[in-house]
Amino acid sequence: MVVAIDGPSGVGKSTVSRAVAIALNLAYLDTGSTYRAATLAVLNADVDIGDGQAVLEVVRSLSIDYGTEGVLLDGVSVAQEVRTDRVTSKVSTVSAHPEVRAEIVAVQRAWVARHGGDAVVEGRDIGTVVFPDTRNKIYLTARQDVRAARRARDDEAREASVAEIAAALQARDEADSTRKASPLRPASDATIIDTSDIGIEQVVEAVLDTMKS
Ligand code: DC
Repeated sequence: MVVAIDGPSGVGKSTVSRAVAIALNLAYLDTGSTYRAATLAVLNADVDIGDGQAVLEVVRSLSIDYGTEGVLLDGVSVAQEVRTDRVTSKVSTVSAHPEVRAEIVAVQRAWVARHGGDAVVEGRDIGTVVFPDTRNKIYLTARQDVRAARRARDDEAREASVAEIAAALQARDEADSTRKASPLRPASDATIIDTSDIGIEQVVEAVLDTMKS
């Protein structure tokens, strides 16, 4: 069983997805971290991130995996490095290349297959592209101001203001929603949950409820 949990940044996807995985005793895959790891590798290789073929070559030359300590590049955890501004500011460009997405989606499907086909998978296109046949599709949303405030709390150590975080978030959402390849959008059969005014436990409960019906 695959539980697909999609939505933009700052809706609480990771916290909710982890909790749902624990409640259902399923593996958990954060697909955003696989695109982030690819972006880190591409930046380190110093190739033109706008060149899809060059990016693809770098991505093909290494292994991306996901474990309890987060995402791994060639077996080494890069969980911390992939969350830096250097990576966050470029990940939408790298993940917009269709040929790169095809490669990384194959990595994600293989990971789920290795886990017996049972996992909670969070991302942007899980219900629409990666696992379109799953019955369990959730799309989380929240108002822009709420998402920016949440991200600001996540990034406590950073110096950026909420306004700067809101602007960066909006730019990334815009890029992720308007790209040609697998844009961020709810699957037609997804259950949409607005997390703006409810707590994490209620969101988790709402997700689990959709699976009982
Ligand atoms: O969830 P996140 O913020 O870590 O994701 C980082 C970026 O990766 C996001 O801006 C778009 C891309 N992404 C994607 O294109 N498809 C996914 N399934 C997950 C993430």
